[in-house]
Amino acid sequence: GIAHALLLAEDFVNKDNMTVVLCDNIFEQDFKKSVSNFKSGARIFLKKVPDPQRFGVATVQNGKVVKIVEKPKRPETQLAVTGIYQYDANVFEYIRSLKPSVRGELEISDVNNIYIKKNKMQAEVIKGFWSDAGTFDSLAHTIKWVTKKNRN
Ligand code: G1P
Repeated sequence: GIAHALLLAEDFVNKDNMTVVLCDNIFEQDFKKSVSNFKSGARIFLKKVPDPQRFGVATVQNGKVVKIVEKPKRPETQLAVTGIYQYDANVFEYIRSLKPSVRGELEISDVNNIYIKKNKMQAEVIKGFWSDAGTFDSLAHTIKWVTKKNRN
């Protein structure tokens, strides 16, 4: 899973903060500011989508994320957790404490729920186009958007 893949980067990251981007995610938003102002804890980036059951889904109460459910059958909200995450170096210790999920993966949503429980999670709703191009349909949709954007 994603958390396991991130653990493989530990020697490279060392004690630094990090921004993790899933390579099948396409964003219109510029994350330069978010990268430079991130200090500690974790930060996730949310997007309202029509098909939240495909994603990690965030429940927000009083402007705070209180939980994330990975691919829920009946999502509580339409707020997908996109594939860009910011963490401090504590993330590696948290990943080591995880057990594989029912789909046999170390889930990034479980990592995020640890930060939420510790009250160390920030969240932002992103602007503009976002797509997880991990299915044929969403890949086709993404290619259409990129092609149109390049024409303008
Ligand atoms: C992964 C994460 C999920 C997140 C999505 C974003 O899904 O597990 O929480 O919403 O990336 O693209 P997966 O690629 O495993 O389907």
